[in-house]
Parts: sequence; C-alpha cells; structure tokens
Amino acid sequence: MKTKQNIAIFASYNGSNLDPIYKACINNDLNISISTIITNNSDAKVINKAKKLNIPYHIINDKNTKDIDKKIIEVLEATDCNMIVLAGYMKKLSATITQKYKIINSHPSLLPKYGGAGMYGKFVHHAVINNKEEYSGITIHYVNDKYDDGEIILQKKLKLKENETAQSLEEKIKELESKTIVKALQVCLK
Ligand code: GRF
Repeated sequence: MKTKQNIAIFASYNGSNLDPIYKACINNDLNISISTIITNNSDAKVINKAKKLNIPYHIINDKNTKDIDKKIIEVLEATDCNMIVLAGYMKKLSATITQKYKIINSHPSLLPKYGGAGMYGKFVHHAVINNKEEYSGITIHYVNDKYDDGEIILQKKLKLKENETAQSLEEKIKELESKTIVKALQVCLK
C-alpha cells in the first residue's frame, strides 16, 4: 500500500466537506491523512470540529499574519503536505500558493455557469432559481489563480423541484457535495 498523502483542509465557516473526508480516512476509503486545517476566520465553526477530531488547526489572516503566503507554506511544509482541499474557503489564494500545491475546490453550481467573483453560497442558488434553471449541481475542480476556473474533476447534476427555494437547493447541493468530494479525491489520488 502506498504511503498516505497528507492533505490540508482550508475553510472559512463550517468546513462541511471535512466530515465526509474525515469519515473516508477513518474507513480507509481514502489513502490520506488530514494533517492540518487552516482557516482565515477566528470564529469559524470548523475550529471546534478540528478540536473535537484532534486535528491541528491554524488561524491565518491579515490581522495576525504579515505574510500570509509565507505562513501557509510554513505550516504545510511542517506537515509534509502537498495537497489542499478547500471546504468553503472564502479567501482568494495567490498564484504563489495555487502554483505550488495541488488544490481542489467544490463549487455549488454546474461550472462554468454561476462561477466567478461573488458567486458563492446562497448567491449561486438565488441566481439559479431567478433564472428558472431546470438543473443545478456541483463541480469539483482544480484551483488556479482565477475564480472557479481550474480543470474540472467531477460534476453531478440535480433537477430543481417546481417550488425550489435557495434554502432547499442549498441543502440538496451540500448533501450531493458530501457524497461526491470523496469520489473526486479518489480520482485525484489515482
Ligand atoms: C459548499 O457548499 C461549497 O460549495 C462551497 O462552500 C460551501 C461550504 O461552506 N465552496 P460551509 O462548509 O457550509 O462553510
């Protein structure tokens, strides 16, 4: 069996995708180890999850760090980590970071539709509903230094109900993401 690859999870709020990834690691469905969690938000719920799961975490933002890229690289090098999964990380990563690491993001729409600056969370779902789309879905993709632009790894679509709301769509999308992120990581690790 190949040695486990260390990954870092970056999250700004809940870090919802941490849960399915952690479960898959425990069940040996993924040959990886979550070596660290990085957040830019000192109030992020993901910090409590990190504490509960005993995963080291780091708060890195411009309030406490002069050179954010340098600090991120320092933390990742300390844990021999070459891969990052973004789990709702709201800060744009610099080209220094995107060029140095393999980075994966889950976006709550069928890219290239509803991607780009300002297109995140409920903004995406409201736009999809306002435009009376028949389908929405998720895209798991590699990250480059442009918003939602990197190579697509996996997409899954779902059909909207007649009375769909941004809230109900968000719930379905999150469920679909949690099922798909592990599959996408398995594809990337091959
Ligand atoms: C996910 O729905 C994903 O599409 C996006 O961030 C959302 C997760 O945020 N990138 P959170 O885990 O609820 O904070």
